[in-house]
Amino acid sequence: PAPTMATVHGGRRRHVLLFPLPYQGHINPMFRLSGLLHARGFAVTVFHTQFNAPDPALHPDYRFVSVPNGSPTPVLVGIKDVVAQMMELGAACEAAFRDRLASVLEEYSRDAVACLVADSHLLPIIEVAARLSVPTLALRTGSAACCACFLAYPMLFDKGYLPVQESQRDMPVLELPPYRVRDLPIVGEDGGGQVRELISRATTAMKISSGLILNTFDALERRELEGLRRDLAVPVFDIGPLHKLSPAGGDSSLLLPDRSCLEWLDAWPPESVLYVSFGSVACMSPRDLVETAWGIAGSSVPFLWVVRPGMVSGSADHHHDHHLPEGFEAATHGRGMVVTWAPQEEVLGHRAVGGFWTHGGWNSTAESICEGVPMLCRPYFGDQMGNARYVEHVWRVGLEVGGDLERGSVEAAIRRLMTGDDGAEMRTRAGELKKAAAEGTVEGGSSCLAIDKLITHMLSL
Ligand code: UDX
Repeated sequence: PAPTMATVHGGRRRHVLLFPLPYQGHINPMFRLSGLLHARGFAVTVFHTQFNAPDPALHPDYRFVSVPNGSPTPVLVGIKDVVAQMMELGAACEAAFRDRLASVLEEYSRDAVACLVADSHLLPIIEVAARLSVPTLALRTGSAACCACFLAYPMLFDKGYLPVQESQRDMPVLELPPYRVRDLPIVGEDGGGQVRELISRATTAMKISSGLILNTFDALERRELEGLRRDLAVPVFDIGPLHKLSPAGGDSSLLLPDRSCLEWLDAWPPESVLYVSFGSVACMSPRDLVETAWGIAGSSVPFLWVVRPGMVSGSADHHHDHHLPEGFEAATHGRGMVVTWAPQEEVLGHRAVGGFWTHGGWNSTAESICEGVPMLCRPYFGDQMGNARYVEHVWRVGLEVGGDLERGSVEAAIRRLMTGDDGAEMRTRAGELKKAAAEGTVEGGSSCLAIDKLITHMLSL
């Protein structure tokens, strides 16, 4: 029988400790995982940085332990800053986390604590726990394919695929099909080797943990998961799609979603609206924003567009539509809505939504697939290029929009996705993946079995 109650002697609950990386794309899967573990009987304690701290009022059943992350957080102006900050955060919290973990262990008693689940980008946190003899599990919030790239990073340098050379961008990476050099997880030129260091630390974090948790599922990445299980000595738990498996809803949002867009969507026919969003970090140039806007306007397709504060480079605190070109609102009057943040899972699940223009973050990609919504991917950095490659060439549920953005090509891509024959085929295939994802989440399905295995494993540590 599946283990359901995580109890120790005397019927006391076992504790699971969690430490998310404080960015939206990492917080969401960690909170979905915590909801799932809580439903299976674990008491949940969330350690978190002061930066991007969660709201404890939204999770009355959890205990929250705030860990100071040192100096005031700098204003981020680009992805390079985010990479630097990701590396600093774990180290900045290390000493304070050691103190807080030690007192929590004393309070709960050692054998009541099952383990710590930490984001794989928090190596210093995982090391502190290991030194205090707390077993750890690493959560990687990207795809299994991306995880395989992380493990292969030293090889990619040895074989000369990296650092990327302009003349080799379209060369296939023979060891990691269907990736081309341009699809590898990189951020700009990485002259200082920061990304290489970030990936090396994440790889170490996975290897020294007692297991790896991935927000993916068997029907989506069977071959990639098999590869990981061959290459890693630790067990791999493919327990996604977490947002479909966890009872916790979208209560880990750092920005307030504008729910009025759901009502606005109600008025449109099935599969007619294009949803446009670039996640929580990606930044576009003012020029790309203008071309995107006029491409959307020219397509005549109804749209819901998330224009986040700070989404356009150099506009950190400005009013959300500051950079939308003059005349755009008039040109699209009556068929578009612009919001600063959307309840994305519900938007993608709305019957009126027929396509998603996305940056291809892993959460967005998985959320779109699980609702059967085909995509136009405009990747910016990190794992997004690889996700776009899989969307177009492996799952064939969307197209990559590459190169310089021009309003004409934007318009054509949108039309192709929303009203073209191949768009319809992509929608059909996305529908099949939606079905496969759902089959994994029912009793006896692959993801449910993986969750049972994970819990048995956690209780055995
Ligand atoms: C980052 C990286 O960019 C991504 O590639 C990596 O896999 C995880 O970390 P982010 O860029 O924010 O994440 O993208 P994504 O992974 O798609 O996560 C964004 C999350 O915010 C999604 O869960 C999405 O549902 C949510 N969201 C986004 C909203 O709730 N409302 C919005 O308006 C936009």
